[in-house]
Amino acid sequence: MKVQEAIKSRRSIRRYKTTPVDDRTVERVLEAARWAPSWANNQCWRFIVVRDNKTKAELANALLSVEKGGTPDGNPAFRAINNAPVVIVACAELGKSGFYGEEPATDKGDWYIFDVALAMQNLALAAHELGLGTVHVALVDAKKAASILQVPDGFCVVEMTPLGYPDQEPRPRPRKELSEIVSYEKFSFQTPCD
Ligand SMILES: Cc1cc2nc3c(=O)[nH]c(=O)nc-3n(C[C@H](O)[C@H](O)[C@H](O)COP(=O)(O)O)c2cc1C
Repeated sequence: MKVQEAIKSRRSIRRYKTTPVDDRTVERVLEAARWAPSWANNQCWRFIVVRDNKTKAELANALLSVEKGGTPDGNPAFRAINNAPVVIVACAELGKSGFYGEEPATDKGDWYIFDVALAMQNLALAAHELGLGTVHVALVDAKKAASILQVPDGFCVVEMTPLGYPDQEPRPRPRKELSEIVSYEKFSFQTPCD
């Protein structure tokens, strides 16, 4: 699959077949994550592969709802985290990305979310090429997820994705036109102050 085709045909998948995903296939998608770029090549990401149904159910219960004050099943990925054969949880070591020594190098502070996002999107595209589905799931009580997985201090949970064979073919979600999101030479978009 060509890169442009993979980028444009990938969809968030929230319904999965029960068909198992073997270890070799999981390793192939993790290999794509491993080759992502990162700040000064620090590779602060860590990935936890979860197959245990009880742990998946606990992770699903750590999701947050799209409704304020709602229950975890109010996250559209709740069933997917429960039912997909594999869940991959992306964690990060804190205080590495965007840092030179103890000090953050930019006004953005810790760049761990950025690095993990690059790795996880590599993973999503590699999975798609192999006929597998994923969905980035970040609306989660990350501290609760970290406690379930015994993630130690100095690391945090960033996001998770179910991984499995899709049992749906979602239509593409709309995207803004380039004319709405690209300007040339200077920033020339309407702002709330205009
Ligand atoms: C940072 C981030 C967090 C997301 N969190 C969730 C989530 O918690 N639950 C969910 O069902 N989808 C989540 N999504 C998936 C988005 O809703 C989805 O990518 C978007 O609607 C575009 O659809 P597409 O991926 O099919 O193109 C998340 C996506 C991103 C990039």
